[in-house]
Amino acid sequence: MNAPASPTPAIAMLRLLGGYQIAQALFVAARAGLADQLLDGPRPLAELAAVTGLRPDPLARIVHALAGEDVFALDADTGLVRLGPLGRTLASGVPESVRNIALMWMDSHYRAFGELWGTAETGRPAAELAYGEPFFDWVGEDPARVGAFTAAMTDFARAIRHHALDAVELDGARTVVDIGGADGAVLAVLAQRDPHLRGTVFDLPHVVAAAPDVLRAHGVDDRITTAGGDFFVEVPPAEDYLACFILHDWSDEKAGHILANVHRAATAPDARLTLVETVLDQGAAPEVASLLDLTMLGMLTGRERSATDWRDLLAASGFRLDRIRTTQGPMCVIEATRLP
Ligand SMILES: C[S@@+](CC[C@H](N)C(=O)[O-])C[C@H]1O[C@@H](n2cnc3c(N)ncnc32)[C@H](O)[C@@H]1O
Repeated sequence: MNAPASPTPAIAMLRLLGGYQIAQALFVAARAGLADQLLDGPRPLAELAAVTGLRPDPLARIVHALAGEDVFALDADTGLVRLGPLGRTLASGVPESVRNIALMWMDSHYRAFGELWGTAETGRPAAELAYGEPFFDWVGEDPARVGAFTAAMTDFARAIRHHALDAVELDGARTVVDIGGADGAVLAVLAQRDPHLRGTVFDLPHVVAAAPDVLRAHGVDDRITTAGGDFFVEVPPAEDYLACFILHDWSDEKAGHILANVHRAATAPDARLTLVETVLDQGAAPEVASLLDLTMLGMLTGRERSATDWRDLLAASGFRLDRIRTTQGPMCVIEATRLP
């Protein structure tokens, strides 16, 4: 048998251009919970249409297109649909699930990216052009959006960032504040790992409201408290700080404000600051950092940064970058120390 010919440049480009269709087909599959329906084994397409309330013909064509992307597999003889190699990632509640990311990206991010030309012309985030206000303000106006965003972040933490979280080393003898700690999922896991760890989850009041339940569920609510506020105004005092996937959301100027507030609030002159972020061209799967850099361009004013960018940003706010620890995932752990 002849080896399949590599696609011509035009065909390869057509596949890239068709990404918008695949993205929306994945959204339909995720929203309908198709992967969940297939976790226990193959099912006939007609049955899937009945349980999801979708029409059989469009569903068949969507499943067929996604079979070409290894998400589902279709048996032409029996008409049975099964999960392909990537299919489980669209199921909910499995460790590798990114279903909540699919739901959020293809809803709020997809709409915003229709304005990317405007970003290239004006430098303003596409999300602001689409929604008429900064992305986090728009999210905060609707509890359903807050829930969708927080759920997507939880998927991100569990499925994509776990290598980096495993590599975080906090000093359990010192108090820590998790800046932008959302629903507390990150600090809860770290506190479970280190029974001495005490600290605070800090985020916008409407976001951190979800944290007490999460901390209780992890059995760490006696050691980890919560605080609501705005990190551009001030952050709670602590000996050490953690900022997981925060500074990449912001421009150097805005990130500098956050760092200056950490510098001011730290109760230890040599406070340790641990960042979990991507570092451009470092670590496994560097293409994830490039993709996230586009996300930052379109949604916020932030950016992914190189090792030199991180060193310079930290130095400008009175922190010394001690080391960057790469992990088996796309995220790195950046350790820094407050300079007096
Ligand atoms: C990308 S998420 C990261 C969440 C969490 N650290 C994680 O790694 O899963 C950014 C977080 O920053 C929070 N945030 C945005 N603006 C903020 C502000 N002005 N003050 C405090 N938190 C803020 C958001 O609510 C969100 O939880």
